[in-house]
Amino acid sequence: MSDKPFHRRDGVEIIDAVDRFVEYHDDFHEAVQADRKANGHQEWYSVDRGTFSEPILPADALEYLGAKRDKRSFAYGEEVGEARLRKQIAQLENLKHDTSYDESNIAMMPGAWAGLEFAIEQIMIADGGRINKKDAVLAIGPTLYQMFDRPIRRFGMNVIAHDYTMQGVEHTPTKENVDDMFREQPKIIVVTNPNNPDGVFVDNETLKVLIERAAEEGIYVIVDEIQNCFSREELRYGNWIQASHVLRVDSPAKRYSMAEYRQGWIIADSDLLGKRNRGIVGNMSGTMGNAPRAGNTALLHVLRNETDVIRKGADSILAHTHAELADKERSLVDKLKTIEGIARVMRRDACINLAVQADFKGTDMELAKRLMQERTLMMPASGYGYQPEDSVLRITFSEDMDYTNKAVEALGKVLSKS
Ligand SMILES: Cc1ncc(COP(=O)(O)O)c(C=O)c1O
Repeated sequence: MSDKPFHRRDGVEIIDAVDRFVEYHDDFHEAVQADRKANGHQEWYSVDRGTFSEPILPADALEYLGAKRDKRSFAYGEEVGEARLRKQIAQLENLKHDTSYDESNIAMMPGAWAGLEFAIEQIMIADGGRINKKDAVLAIGPTLYQMFDRPIRRFGMNVIAHDYTMQGVEHTPTKENVDDMFREQPKIIVVTNPNNPDGVFVDNETLKVLIERAAEEGIYVIVDEIQNCFSREELRYGNWIQASHVLRVDSPAKRYSMAEYRQGWIIADSDLLGKRNRGIVGNMSGTMGNAPRAGNTALLHVLRNETDVIRKGADSILAHTHAELADKERSLVDKLKTIEGIARVMRRDACINLAVQADFKGTDMELAKRLMQERTLMMPASGYGYQPEDSVLRITFSEDMDYTNKAVEALGKVLSKS
């Protein structure tokens, strides 16, 4: 066993994790369809999505998605995304982190995931399509490994991962682990902050050390912040986060339950972002970053509210949702205590999931499949970097409490038989 607090994965192992993730999705779709065919419509308890299954914005905000959308915003607008939106993102970021971004540092992307892929490709693939296979991308896990499928499988990139999912350690690197990252001699280090599925932040000191060292060694750092929603403490960096070798990707998919509009953004140096046919924006090509105008208007409204909350102490339009989520999380934790066979509930800083380790003699996938027989869906966490035999599942607690309770009862039933 390694004396390091992380599992080191090569590209083949990362693809294995992706394949497990895909297999899980194929299996449950098949199971639901077979159940429908045999038994007609039945309620399935799916607490596996990692996001909200319904809109969470209040009615007046949702109106911006329809009647109140701005008729002057154009679908074929700037490829880099609508200027007002980019300005608002820069303003909000500056308030949060004491940075001095402007709209030239923001490019809208069709989601955080696409933003990450386009950024990696921009850095790793030279004009003319040449990839230096020796240059590595180092992913710090746990994270959503499907995001690295395209770099590995389609482009043949050398992606490796350090997964901080070992028992007995916090599931995130500390500054003592930074040397191990640079020993890999990567060209890019990708940090998911907070990670997925746990939702644990990398502490600022570690991130700062990592970023400073990357500057010295000419390495890029990409920080994926999409899981930063419903956090116990607001994420606040300092102006050290703003550097020409640091790229940050984010989206409103989880925080505001707006995944279907495929909005997202990258915060980076403007030269790296490029324009219509150059840089990361050019890499988007026909996959334009300018979301449907209704999505743009709604997002602008939400971001203005967040800005006002910080600047003027205005009421957050998410206050009600967050109060409900706190109740739901408490209720899930209480319910988990009533069933036997739960070994551990991992610490959560942010996001709307709890990573839960079961006392189960088998893999997370076998457990997930047993749960499917009870019409219950929980996400096996080995697609994110846990070992399959760790039997860790990710439970999303944003659903109706009765519904979540039914799912946990099914877990209790399966575990009591194991
Ligand atoms: C770490 C991480 N980044 C990005 C995404 C996807 O982001 P988007 O929906 O904005 O493309 C996910 C989805 O779960 C994720 O876990």
